[in-house]
Amino acid sequence: MLDVFSGTTPLPNGLQVKSGNAILEVRAMRDDVVRVRVGLKDKLPEDASWAVLAGARQSSANVVAENNSETVGFRTNTLRVKIARSDLRLSVSDLEGNILQEDAEGWPVTFHGQDFRVYKKMPEDEHYFGLGDKVGPFDRRGQSFVLWNTDTFEFQESTDPIYKSIPFFLAFRKGRTIGVFLDNTWCSNFDFGKASRDIYSFGADGGPIDYYIIYGPDPKRVLNTYAWLTGTAPLPPLWSFGYQQSRYSYETENRVREIATKLRAEKIPSDVLYLDIDYQQQNRPFTVDAQRFPHFADMIRNLRQQHFHVVTITDLHIARLAESKYFPYDSGLAGDHFVKNPDGSLYVGPVWPGPSVFPDFTRQSTRDWWGGLYGNFVSDGVAGFWNDMNEPSVFFTATKTMPPQTQHRIEEPGFAKRTANHLEIHNVYGMENSRATYEGLLKLTPNLRPFVLTRATYAGGQRYASTWTGDNSSMWNHLRLTTPMLLNLGLSGFGLSGADVGGFAGTPQPDLLTKWIELGTFQPIDRNHTAKGTGDQEPWVHGTEHESIRRRYIEERYRLLPYLYTTAEEMSRNGMPIVRPLFLEFPSATEDGHPLDLDAPNQFLFGPSLLVAPFRFPDELDSYAVVLPAGDWFDYWTGERLPKPGSQPGLTRVTVQPRLDVLPVFARAGSIIPMQPLTQSTDEVPQGPLILRVYPGPNCGGALYQDDGTTLDYKKGNYLRMNFSCEAPTGSLRVHIGAPEGSYRAWWKQYEIQIFGWDARAARVLLNGKPDVVASSVDPQHHVLTLGLPGNGEADLQISPLP
Ligand code: GLC
Repeated sequence: MLDVFSGTTPLPNGLQVKSGNAILEVRAMRDDVVRVRVGLKDKLPEDASWAVLAGARQSSANVVAENNSETVGFRTNTLRVKIARSDLRLSVSDLEGNILQEDAEGWPVTFHGQDFRVYKKMPEDEHYFGLGDKVGPFDRRGQSFVLWNTDTFEFQESTDPIYKSIPFFLAFRKGRTIGVFLDNTWCSNFDFGKASRDIYSFGADGGPIDYYIIYGPDPKRVLNTYAWLTGTAPLPPLWSFGYQQSRYSYETENRVREIATKLRAEKIPSDVLYLDIDYQQQNRPFTVDAQRFPHFADMIRNLRQQHFHVVTITDLHIARLAESKYFPYDSGLAGDHFVKNPDGSLYVGPVWPGPSVFPDFTRQSTRDWWGGLYGNFVSDGVAGFWNDMNEPSVFFTATKTMPPQTQHRIEEPGFAKRTANHLEIHNVYGMENSRATYEGLLKLTPNLRPFVLTRATYAGGQRYASTWTGDNSSMWNHLRLTTPMLLNLGLSGFGLSGADVGGFAGTPQPDLLTKWIELGTFQPIDRNHTAKGTGDQEPWVHGTEHESIRRRYIEERYRLLPYLYTTAEEMSRNGMPIVRPLFLEFPSATEDGHPLDLDAPNQFLFGPSLLVAPFRFPDELDSYAVVLPAGDWFDYWTGERLPKPGSQPGLTRVTVQPRLDVLPVFARAGSIIPMQPLTQSTDEVPQGPLILRVYPGPNCGGALYQDDGTTLDYKKGNYLRMNFSCEAPTGSLRVHIGAPEGSYRAWWKQYEIQIFGWDARAARVLLNGKPDVVASSVDPQHHVLTLGLPGNGEADLQISPLP
């Protein structure tokens, strides 16, 4: 029990406090990150982690001890930590004295057997985000959650737990943010004021009390520091941002070819086709059904010629097939790679292929063996891999997974080499599965960026795989659910995610599929997928009227690829998600400091500059209000500047009448958005100019990142990065295209610059000080000035209105 103060030991980076034979240790890893650990029986828990990067774990900041008659503690250059001598309550504040987190009165930490629980005061105006894609409202306040990876086919709005466990959340109060990461892989749970109105708490059924408090105050800074702690998503191949078409399953080679041909014939831009379990022989991973797919390698090659990348599912369960010459089973058995029962026998559980065995992914040697299984598919030209069912899902059992006492062997730097039971490993099992795939692919093709899609994962899993939200349903409320799920995933390190477009279970009505494809355009991963036995869900299935709307949105995604890819590259460096809640970009948008998202449910930012505003109730016909943060905004589709909210600075409210063919999108004044001419796939080199959409406004700027899209050569300098800026000194406009950095060569030879909010009838333009080089035209109806100029390097434009 942590209650009686019985002594303290200062450390260069923190302190230890003793309470009987319990130890509370708080260390500063940086000025803005503290790690809290508690151990019983005079011992701290094992200092090891599946999530935290080794480099970060060793990081340490010097502190100044601060002790008085009431508290012991320390300060860093940013934070002050105090522990009360009376009851060992911990509080963390900034140096101005703003309390950032404080243990609750009475019971800061409790233990019941192996379980523990940590209680914190919950201010009335604090809001909570994160924990991955847990369903329910975007703000976690008032809700509680269990983290235990679970296969939840047809999950609904209140289903919990679901597929992933990411024990990281943000607490946001009056524009000030902290992040809290509980690094515990056991079944854990979080309660944000549900059990008790003014307390939030977290705990687990076992494992260490080991948590990190990350200070912002800016929420972006918290995400950036969380990325420092647990890693970022590596830059994925460009093709993964194209439109992806899937279903459970395209059952024959002919059907797959038919879909590919139809996508091209219908001119639906697309890049990726998925093969779900039925391409395999009786659902056995790493096999191909030669009857239904007689020319598998040829098919992959032909599809590649049609500019498709194929992603195949490779589930982790290996069919238990003794003496059947099934290589994954035989080689796995020979190498002792499968999870065992406590008596040393193999654990066998039924999944898609029938009785199956399960790789012991917590061992390096097993991960290496697993990675090697991809050799044939990689040589056949399969471009990416889909790791499903890795909670792991086990059929016909009440728990839907392996028994708790199943044995896993740990071989991992930082951990003692030991056997752990499933209760400890369950929540990292899927992450280690995707890690084995990712690392295996890198070994097989060392200069190619792997693409791995996983269903289950844990904190830090973003380093290995992108993810999707599992088996949603083709219902209007699931379309609504998509946005908070992806936003919270993005705030939990997983910026690269999608929800099945059109819904998995069931068949969408035509309007629903159309609205879903519209929203999918602005998802990090845009994959249309549906279950077995449902109606077809490709964009053309409901006639030409629907198809043309759907096509238009998918086309827009392709036009926006330079912007989307630039945002993804930023994510790979600093952990900023692609889709962002409003408070991330505008943390002080409201007068009383509450997150703006509470007033604007389901609105989100796609990258830094575009605000997407679906109706929260997408099936309703009533008009609704879009809430825009202070500053000017432009209608992305018409180009028009929105009327100002009057002379008062503050939020703008725009009333929108829902229309089937419009998903409202707004561009933020002060942005420059790079775009490209339409292509039918990411293989195709865009023909024509690089388009820069300039929305003049304060701090006007933008960026562009390009590279070859598939290899790791960008790490050796083969990329192109450009920065853009604009200024509006009185009466005129200056646009600057910065000098390209890096050795990658641009595809364009001209620029087309579109300037929005242009009120004059014509323009006089100087390019690098010279007149008469730039062609210009004005669209007076939409107030757009378009400039065409040669070049792909640095350029400076001075633009003055002509009456
Ligand atoms: C699971 C997946 C789903 C997949 C199906 C068959 O339900 O979540 O996406 O299509 O298994 O592999």
